[in-house]
Amino acid sequence: MSTQNDRIAWFLGGDVICRVQPRQLRPYRLVLLGPPGVGKGTQAELLGHHLGACHLSTGDAFRAAGAVDPCHRSPAILAAQEAMMRGELVSDDQVIAMVRERIPCLSCSGGFLLDGFPRTTVQARALDAMLEEQQVTLDTAIAYEMPIDEIVARLSGRRTCADCKAVYHVTACPPNEEGVCDLCNGRLVQRADDQPDAIRVRMHAYQENTRPLTDYYAGSGRLISISALGPPTEILERTLQGIAAHTANCPSVTPETL
Ligand code: AP5
Repeated sequence: MSTQNDRIAWFLGGDVICRVQPRQLRPYRLVLLGPPGVGKGTQAELLGHHLGACHLSTGDAFRAAGAVDPCHRSPAILAAQEAMMRGELVSDDQVIAMVRERIPCLSCSGGFLLDGFPRTTVQARALDAMLEEQQVTLDTAIAYEMPIDEIVARLSGRRTCADCKAVYHVTACPPNEEGVCDLCNGRLVQRADDQPDAIRVRMHAYQENTRPLTDYYAGSGRLISISALGPPTEILERTLQGIAAHTANCPSVTPETL
């Protein structure tokens, strides 16, 4: 199964409707947790192909909002961009407001793979309230774990497509042609917050604010922990096994589908 959803409802928010509507029978609603660079975005793309659910990243949504003409950026988006450049978290109020503007994505029949939200327990409670309002439930939160040295290596080699947001790595997952996206021929760029100083601040913010989230989800029996070491397809396999053990009818991985 592949994710053909164009995610424009998530990127633009408000009443915008995605051009391609999901067709799968069972929507998966998952939260992906883990430190910056552990591979949440990479797994979200792979999981999207297997489960049909849409990859919803708050970081991508902020970056997309920040890419518009500077004259049209709201003060809130400018403040968010500055926080991101420094590696700091955007304020809870602002992130929650942004997700609320996209609330139809939470009850979409295609399901969702939330990446980067929630990041604090305040955000996690707000997400639970929004899901209740939309009368849907979270299947599980998946916490990816990996030693910090490996994470820094992943982040410093990351390249992202400026157009479709596909993620590459200069050695672990290089594009066919250097600097060019395999999927859309877009230009590959290095994120501004993948510089050493900003990486250190992001790691600190993660330890302080996001780590306690694993307790939040474990406390309500909704947490699966997965090792993020090894090639992406192996991690995908572990993730799908974890989801299958937690929920019913999760599609299994076969060599043809990897
Ligand atoms: P966000 O965009 O969410 O960034 P992040 O959490 O720092 O996570 P990353 O995207 O850096 O890493 P990832 O885990 O997705 O790894 P990836 O798959 O790319 O947030 C950015 C900023 O926005 C925040 O700092 C904050 O300011 C703000 N923000 C966003 N949401 C917020 C919120 N809710 N509250 C407050 N502020 C918020 O992989 C990394 C690299 O490794 C890639 O090059 C990839 O190709 C490679 N790789 C992946 N898997 C493997 C593997 N198995 N083996 C080898 N290489 C691999």
